[in-house]
Amino acid sequence: MIKKIGILTSGGDSPGMNAAIRSIVINSLKNNYKIYGFFYGYLGLFKNKVKSLKYKDINNIIDKSGTLLGSSRFIKLKKYKIKKKIIKKIKNKIDILIIIGGEGSYKGALKLNNMGLPCITIPGTIDNDIPGTDYTIGFSSALETIVKYIDNVKYTLLSHKRILILEVMGRKCCDLALYSYISSENCYLITYKNFNIKNLIKKIKKSKKKYLIIIITENITNIKKLSIKIQKKTNIETRFTSIGYIQRSGKPTAFDRILAFKMGNYAIKLIKKNKTGKCIAIKKNKIIHYDIKNIIKI
Ligand code: F6P
Repeated sequence: MIKKIGILTSGGDSPGMNAAIRSIVINSLKNNYKIYGFFYGYLGLFKNKVKSLKYKDINNIIDKSGTLLGSSRFIKLKKYKIKKKIIKKIKNKIDILIIIGGEGSYKGALKLNNMGLPCITIPGTIDNDIPGTDYTIGFSSALETIVKYIDNVKYTLLSHKRILILEVMGRKCCDLALYSYISSENCYLITYKNFNIKNLIKKIKKSKKKYLIIIITENITNIKKLSIKIQKKTNIETRFTSIGYIQRSGKPTAFDRILAFKMGNYAIKLIKKNKTGKCIAIKKNKIIHYDIKNIIKI
């Protein structure tokens, strides 16, 4: 019977992680479970950095980005003997572990689950790159930050008739770039699928727009070199910027807070039914779950 729940946040922090922690703590305590927070992701699990969480710990966090539990990318978790050690240390302390994080964190969860530590995962990443879910906690907030940035920067571009190359996060997923492109005007979109400099320059030359923003997903190309090339070929002053961590640490939107609330709630419902090895998702506006093993390959 499940009595003690552990929780951790792992990988890149995302706005709304705190709202998810809050929801899990409230629902755990309401259902008379003991709830333990592990600090700095799987590292805290390994080092046994843990604290019993109470209502007072989750006061005043719903509007804060980051994660009150801290996060890390604990690469050593890939090693079998590290996972073995974790399980040995943790097995008598908690009955199940809830992990809020991205794809890498899901892989760790699945492995631990298979080795005997029951796990449930909640999608927390700005990248929106977890299979099976329409949205991840943090995506809406990061998108909002990018769109506000575009709304603000365009007047400077307009004043100088300039082009700006704006690099956004997303790892291999282009959703942040795509959705911010759809939400804005005078933009071109560069993703892994359509990256073609010649075409882009052709379009810019034809364009009658007084300013332009080229939104590009990170890691596709060197944006400094790209800006120099565009300026040389078009004769239009071209600047570049990478919007960076502000995308991760902007205020959580109401959408992310609500998503976090619902997913936290659902996690405890699964635990009440003794369901383990599951990952939570939202599909067509409905909160659902899958077996983690059907969503992530390890
Ligand atoms: O996964 C979230 C994310 O912000 C990605 O968009 C980005 O590629 C990566 O994390 C950056 O990682 P780090 O936190 O190690 O700088």
